Amino acid sequence: MKEKVEELKKEIEAYIVETAEELEQYRMKFISRKSVVGDLFNELKTADQEVKREMGRTLNELKNIATNRFKSFVDDLETKEGSEKLANVPDLTLPPVADQLGAQHPILATKARIIEIFERIGFNLSEGPEVEDDWHNFSALNFPENHPAREMQDTFFIERNPDIALRTHTSSVQVRVMENQKPPIRTLSPGRVYRNEAISARAHCVFHQVEGLYIDENVSFKDLKQTLYHFVKELFGKDTKIRFRPSYFPFTEPSVEVDISCNICKGKGCNICKYTGWVEIGGAGMVDPNVLTSSNIDPEKYSGFAFGMGIERITMLLYQINDLRLFTENDVRFLKQFKNIK
Ligand code: DAH
Repeated sequence: MKEKVEELKKEIEAYIVETAEELEQYRMKFISRKSVVGDLFNELKTADQEVKREMGRTLNELKNIATNRFKSFVDDLETKEGSEKLANVPDLTLPPVADQLGAQHPILATKARIIEIFERIGFNLSEGPEVEDDWHNFSALNFPENHPAREMQDTFFIERNPDIALRTHTSSVQVRVMENQKPPIRTLSPGRVYRNEAISARAHCVFHQVEGLYIDENVSFKDLKQTLYHFVKELFGKDTKIRFRPSYFPFTEPSVEVDISCNICKGKGCNICKYTGWVEIGGAGMVDPNVLTSSNIDPEKYSGFAFGMGIERITMLLYQINDLRLFTENDVRFLKQFKNIK
């Protein structure tokens, strides 16, 4: 009997219970009255006094081992069931999952920042049509009849003679504002423009510009300089430098191209600024008297400045984006990165 008890102890120790059915099998085998342990107790009934005393203790010990093991199986199963149940119950104490909000497109974000800067110094907003006639896009802006920008390769014409085209720049809005308002004029015109160009990392056939126009008595080149100086420092940071290079536009005289110190390499030289330390952000100049006259503004009394900048260009510099096509591809991996910009 002793050997049998030792064997059973080992069996109980090695026993594994994972389900309620297995637990019941264990109970039947080791705990119930008809269990092996129960049988041994029955056997003991017929044994003599001496054996009864000795084996009684051993059997009781075996019974305790079997019962304790049973209890620990019950505990384990309860914890397991409990956690399985819990796993299916939502944890109401968890913080809520944030809504998947969309992000503002970087072009719109830059446009908003530019508008904000100019609004604070007294510029209002104006808009014009994207489908424009020759007068507002070219003639009133002093483009000579044979100017290359009028040719097919640059302009998307919708109709010829009289010419209707997709505007090639936001300077057309200048003309519309001057036709409809009297000086003083301080206006900013952001918008989409179109050019018949091959799409590449640096050029697109649809892009955005922002035009500025300031007309009043005694407006001089130094007002232009100071305005752009202020703008650049506000947008790119106070350490940014600005420079003007002489240039030519039909609608301004004198005309300049506006460069800022490369905000990527801080002027040291990198592939974005082609190792010059400077990047161009737009064109500007004093409004040509012919343009004022075309819009019935007296150039003897009034003068003004104008500027035009590419919003894509500025956005690329602000966020170090090296391919303009990313703006129109709608790749969420790109757009997601602008979630936290203001
Ligand atoms: N319209 C010019 C362009 O698209 C940019 C420009 C240059 C606008 C000089 C202006 C200006 O108002 O004064 O390239």
